[in-house]
Amino acid sequence: MKGRVLSGMQPSGYLHLGNYAGALKNWVRLQDVYDCFYCVVDWHALTSNYANPAPIAEYKRDMLINFIAAGLDPNKCTIFLQSAVKQHAELHLLLSMITPLGWLERVPTYKEKQTEIKDKDLNTYGFLGYPVLQAADILIYRAGRVPVGVDQIPHLELTREIARRFEFLYEQGILIEPEALLTESPKVPGLDGRKMSKSYDNAVFLSDTPEMIDKKIRTMMTDPARKRKTDKGDPELSPVYSLHQIFSSPDETAHVAAACKTAEIGCIDCKRILIKNIINELTPLWNKRQELISSPSTLDDILNDGNKRAEAVAEETMSLIREAMKLS
Ligand code: TRP
Repeated sequence: MKGRVLSGMQPSGYLHLGNYAGALKNWVRLQDVYDCFYCVVDWHALTSNYANPAPIAEYKRDMLINFIAAGLDPNKCTIFLQSAVKQHAELHLLLSMITPLGWLERVPTYKEKQTEIKDKDLNTYGFLGYPVLQAADILIYRAGRVPVGVDQIPHLELTREIARRFEFLYEQGILIEPEALLTESPKVPGLDGRKMSKSYDNAVFLSDTPEMIDKKIRTMMTDPARKRKTDKGDPELSPVYSLHQIFSSPDETAHVAAACKTAEIGCIDCKRILIKNIINELTPLWNKRQELISSPSTLDDILNDGNKRAEAVAEETMSLIREAMKLS
């Protein structure tokens, strides 16, 4: 039997190239190797956007469309919506009984996000409990592996601690301690050279048109020391080069690097090659997106089916947990 994988993504914005190259492409690869469950974690999106939930509905739809358009195949993996499987909420509640407050206050993202995000009040019970909900997402499928970025390691560690505590308090052999599946994924810089993120306003979205991509990349930051076309550049200092490493062929990448160092090509020419390659990579995805958008019932069917499959597994685990906690 294939090992089980679970991962989740928060619908708190439109999907961008960072989500695509950093996570989604890896998820597509994993569906051939593992029994994969991929969850759109809309309850998690509410923990920080509870005051403005309206856009989440649109982000969810965009996310599901992009999951499938990028190559997640509902015949190979289970794609589902967190809020459609109520067992996640039940397990979240039960795990909250056994999770010491100190463990949650110690999670680095908790204090970090509270100080970093100033336009939202994150001093809430739900926000503190974010990692408990994530633990429920993972443990309810008894997934052994969780593909995530390094930033999620503390959440995974907490998930393992909660599983261990459950097993110690109640019954052995119900919950599995999951491991992070740290696949090497490229760091995708945004238009200003910082990490690509919707909150930095530096992203290229999967839903952007070729014209928008052209315009965005043309004004993207390059090696700041290269002021004139005749100046020699250092590709390592240019985020455009980092995108070449992700979206261009090895030959083209080597060519632009060499030609930048000798000032043989200017930044505009270099960007033109990148724009072409990003558009080439995204064209099949856009075609599939169009198909899905013009046939909403296909999307509904895929989601309903995924939700059902996920719920069956979640319910199986929950019945063991209810029994262990003397609730049945
Ligand atoms: N916290 C994760 C993130 O921000 C999202 C997430 C929620 C998740 N539940 C999960 C990831 C379960 C992996 C497994 O990226």
